[in-house]
Amino acid sequence: MKQENTHVIRIDDLVHKESQQALDEAAALIRAGELVAFPTETVYGLGANGLDDDACKKIFEAKRRPADNPLILHVSSLDEVDRLVRELTEEDRAAMRTLWPGPMTLIFKKSEIVPDAVTAGGDTVAIRFPSHEMAKQLIRKAGVPIAAPSANRSGRPSPTNAEDVYQDMQGIIPMILDGGNCDIGIESTVIDRTVSPPVILRPGFYTQEFLEEYMPGIQYDSALIEEGQIPKSPGQKYKHYAPKAAFTVFVGKHKPVYREISEAAKTAKEAGKKVGVMTFEEDKTHYDADIVLRLGSYRDITALAKHLFASLRLMDRADVDVIYGAGVDAHAGYGISIMNRMRKAASGRVIEVVE
Ligand code: TXA
Ligand code: MG
Repeated sequence: MKQENTHVIRIDDLVHKESQQALDEAAALIRAGELVAFPTETVYGLGANGLDDDACKKIFEAKRRPADNPLILHVSSLDEVDRLVRELTEEDRAAMRTLWPGPMTLIFKKSEIVPDAVTAGGDTVAIRFPSHEMAKQLIRKAGVPIAAPSANRSGRPSPTNAEDVYQDMQGIIPMILDGGNCDIGIESTVIDRTVSPPVILRPGFYTQEFLEEYMPGIQYDSALIEEGQIPKSPGQKYKHYAPKAAFTVFVGKHKPVYREISEAAKTAKEAGKKVGVMTFEEDKTHYDADIVLRLGSYRDITALAKHLFASLRLMDRADVDVIYGAGVDAHAGYGISIMNRMRKAASGRVIEVVE
């Protein structure tokens, strides 16, 4: 799949005539069976007409995504969901009404019109109604549900800005809509609604604690919290978010963690390696490292989530050999979702620092 030019269109204000023209153009490309990358509140998506099997196959080719990993259909209203699924319970509808639009994907039994490429041949379909205004308008203008995985090459960190999409998709897709940085920075919470109580297959901004009020009894897929189990969501088993450098994450009390990172950085420098460090704003340690990124305050870990993937990609661009990073508590709340991504990016190299 080759594309002469990848057109990146910056959109600052959706009310401008030029912005609407760009969205019309993007929607026309989608309807014509082409791929368009677009921003959402979580990460950038690589969109195709979700009712067109051939268009969805192009997504797999562009990403080099394994064919058994299904796609999410993005809609711009609750009404669009009925024709994509076999049935909805009153509880499903109530959850959709209160929690959508937002960073949440729901899995239902699929209807006849959903193509095989979307579901990877399975009998369920994942659906999300994003809250990002540009995404909503694009879907509305396209007039079809938009199938969209994260807009990265398979295995790479998900893109959270247009430049990062461009790096992976340049010369492969015709258009990227540039809406600046994504607010959340990690992908949506994926929830299996075909079982009762529902199960979280991929942790995200909506945590189990938050969802409990709307979906009583909801639990994490046990593979997400216990080691050595096989995850129920196909996408969870693949290599993920991997920067080129070897990434190691340290978790524990702040001071000992910073001390460990500092020692690891020093040792790597002495061995002639180019070293990257990812830590928090409050960390005043002087590191013997080539690049130090402070991703935000440890008091607000949403900042860590927001900057995580872009920082890993910055490290790649700086061509470091090793990255040492400070993680967060993975035992509750948003920390579970963030450490799920960090653990994968680090290929499991997460070290618990004890004093
Ligand atoms: O925030 C997001 O969800 C972003 C934006 C673009 O919306 N999209 C995204 O898509 O992260 P992707 O394809 O990178 O991840 C979708 C995840 C994968 O882990 C996939 O295996 C799982 O959802 N999934 C999709 N359909 C499924 C299904 N029918 N059953 C189980 N898991 C499914
Ligand atoms: Mg992805």
